[in-house]
Amino acid sequence: MLSKADNELLCRIGPGTPMGAVFRRFWNPVCLSEQLPHPDCGPLRVEILGERMVAFPNSEGDVGLLEEGCPHRGVSLALGRVEDNGLRCLFHGWKFAVDGAILDVPNCPDIALRHRLKAQCYPVREAGGFVWAYMGPPEKVAAFPRWRFMDIPLANVRVNRIDADVNYMQQLEGGADSSHVGILHSNFARPGWMSGGFNPNTDPDNPAALATGDLAPALDLEDTEFGFHYAAIRQLASNEAAGRRNVRVVPIVMPTTRIIPSPAMQFVIFEVPVNDTRTATFAATFRLDGGPIDKWKLNEMSGRHNPELFDERTHGYLGTWENRFGQKREQMRENWTGIKGVVMEDLAMALSQGPIVDRGKEHLVPADQAIARARKQLMDSARMVAAGGDPIGVHTDVSRIRAIDAKVSRNVRWQDLVAPEPVSA
Ligand code: FES
Ligand SMILES: [Fe+2]
Repeated sequence: MLSKADNELLCRIGPGTPMGAVFRRFWNPVCLSEQLPHPDCGPLRVEILGERMVAFPNSEGDVGLLEEGCPHRGVSLALGRVEDNGLRCLFHGWKFAVDGAILDVPNCPDIALRHRLKAQCYPVREAGGFVWAYMGPPEKVAAFPRWRFMDIPLANVRVNRIDADVNYMQQLEGGADSSHVGILHSNFARPGWMSGGFNPNTDPDNPAALATGDLAPALDLEDTEFGFHYAAIRQLASNEAAGRRNVRVVPIVMPTTRIIPSPAMQFVIFEVPVNDTRTATFAATFRLDGGPIDKWKLNEMSGRHNPELFDERTHGYLGTWENRFGQKREQMRENWTGIKGVVMEDLAMALSQGPIVDRGKEHLVPADQAIARARKQLMDSARMVAAGGDPIGVHTDVSRIRAIDAKVSRNVRWQDLVAPEPVSA
């Protein structure tokens, strides 16, 4: 349960807010590389952390991220021409470089104006199929994160986004909550649920497939430099236990990244606030062995293939109360939720809480410990940044963080399963 003041502290991320200051200390994905498909392609409107911007690649393919409103008189630069290494406003032709420099001012002979003014812009990098921006104080710019998926050929990484009208924290809390997997995702987690039995889903790619019908995992948490790990420990059925148990360890990487494991895959998920009540969920999925992945199969598993709930063109989630988040009640005899797809089930839960849930009314149980820890670390970070310090995790090397879902001997410490691999000499 959170007080109203703490809930506000946690959820508001616009310019000038304490949590907004936390997010601005990290490099965050702002769009997919495929949304800017070639040099000089059309500009893309981007809203991140409550700021409206425009992203565009210049003729050399370098990406700029400028405030959307033209510094002359505020016309949207998203309508502008992208040409000759710059973005030109349609209205009076002012032209801007990717670093915000003014290259041309056709309606003003005062050349000095070009040197006095600059478009508001942020540093941008492109890596791993995402465009990333740093929106914080220039003197505190963080080292660029090297995620493991950036070292895998892009063809073998599934990179995507889905935007939904809900506060970022509800999305993160869904991901920090292992105990819903065996219930909400019953169709994937325990295919025999209709008859009361348990038939393991043996698909090693499915992150919602559980090795066991144990619905009350024991949670164990440990703080790390980047945030924390939580382990969901499930008992195996007696006929296959043989001294083993199933361990599913999820890292929560500040501010809002998690890595969800399946036995064969890693799903790295970034919850990036578009504004206080809309979130862009960016994801990079890859096999532990770096091999090719079946993107179509994963899209079907997540529910992204369904045009009723996902608009491929805008990357927008389309579920609302109007279409009951895609729920087909007549199918609920066979389908636990009546909703197709793991991600679509998660989104229905998050949006049904309302845009910003009132955490003063909740009743947390031990299975919610990871949620409580994520809130605490974020709010601690907000207070530390407000006091002039650094947020948790901002100086971490993220390249060796991993998740695991495996059956292991009871003698194995779960912490050892996710310890960073030794760096080769
Ligand atoms: S408003 Fe953009 S050039 Fe005038
Ligand atoms: Fe889920």
